[in-house]
Amino acid sequence: MIAAAAAIPAAGHAEETAAARGAYLVDALAICGRCHTTPGPGNKPFAGGRVIETSAYKVQGSNITPDPETGIGLWSDEQIGRAITQGQRPDGSRMSTAMPYNFYAVLTDADRAAIVAYLRTLAPVRNQTAAPLYAVAPVPAAGVPASGQDTGRGLYLATLARCLSCHSTPGADGEPDLVGGMGKGGASFEGPWGVVVAPDITPRALAGWSDADIRRSLVEGVAPDGRKLAAPMQAKAYAQLRPDDIAALVVWLRRLPEN
Ligand code: HEC
Ligand code: HEC
Repeated sequence: MIAAAAAIPAAGHAEETAAARGAYLVDALAICGRCHTTPGPGNKPFAGGRVIETSAYKVQGSNITPDPETGIGLWSDEQIGRAITQGQRPDGSRMSTAMPYNFYAVLTDADRAAIVAYLRTLAPVRNQTAAPLYAVAPVPAAGVPASGQDTGRGLYLATLARCLSCHSTPGADGEPDLVGGMGKGGASFEGPWGVVVAPDITPRALAGWSDADIRRSLVEGVAPDGRKLAAPMQAKAYAQLRPDDIAALVVWLRRLPEN
C-alpha cells in the first residue's frame, strides 16, 4: 500500500507537533470556531457557539473544550474522532449535518488525530449549550461528492475549508447543490456586514483573475478592483494558511468543472 500512503495529501511538516498541525487545521482552514464560538466580545473560544436552525433541526455549536461535564473532556480520542468524521456521539446517537462531519470524513487518520490533540490543549470552559432539537432523528449522511477533478491536495484542503458549501447555488431544499450548482455562487449571507451573496468562483468567472489576484482575495480579503470582501469570506483565518496550501487551493479553483 505504499502508493496509497504516498497519495495522502497535505501531510504536516515533519517538525510540526500533532497539536500544532491540529491548530492549523482548526483555526486556519476548517474554522471550527465559526460555529463553536459565540460571536462577539468576551466570548470563550470553542465553549459553544451559533444556533443553526432549519426545518429539520435547531442545534447549537457544542462546547468542544475539555470540560468534563459540559464539554468533551470525558470522551476518548476515538470518540472525539468519530464525532468529527462520522457525526456520532459516544452514546451512539447521530448529529445533524449542521456539524459538517460529511466533509470532515475526508480527514486522514493523522490529521484527525492532530485535531483531537489540539482540542485536548484547549482550556476547559464550563458552559452548558442548548440540547439539540430534531424534527426527525438524524441518520448517517454520506460523504460529500468529490468536488471537481481530483487535484489531490487542493481538493483535500477545499473540502476541509468547505469552500463549496458557501459557493454553490442553493438547491430546492436550501442546501448547496454540489452537483449542478457547484461553485456557481448565489447563497446569501446576512450579518453585521449586511447581506452578501457568495460569488461564482468557477474558472469562467475568475478567468480575468491572475493567480496573485486569487491569492490576495483569499489571504487579504481584497478583490482585484480593491473591493474589500465581507467577513463570510474568511480572510483573517486564511491569512494563516501556508503559501504551498494557498497555491494548492488556487490550482483546485482553476480546475473546477464548468457544467
Ligand atoms: C458549520 C458549523 C460547524 C462547523 C464549521 C463545525 N461544527 Fe462541530 N458541531 C456543529 C454543531 C451545530 C454541532 C451539534 C450538532 C447536533 O447537535 O446535531 C456540532 C458538534 C460537534 C461535536 C460533538 C460535541 C457534542 O458534545 O455533541 C464535536 C466534537 C465537534 N462538533 C467538533 C468540531 C470540529 C473539531 C470542527 C472543525 C474541524 C467542527 N466541529 C466544525 C457545528 C459546526
Ligand atoms: C462561510 C462562507 C464562505 C466560505 C467557507 C468561503 N467563502 Fe469565498 N466568499 C464568500 C462570500 C460571501 C464572498 C463574497 C464576499 C463579498 O463580496 O464581500 C466570497 C468571495 C470569494 C472570492 C472572491 C470572488 C469574487 O468574485 O469577488 C473567492 C475567490 C473565494 N471567495 C474563494 C473561496 C475559497 C477558495 C474558499 C475555500 C478555501 C472560500 N472562498 C470559502 C463566502 C465563503
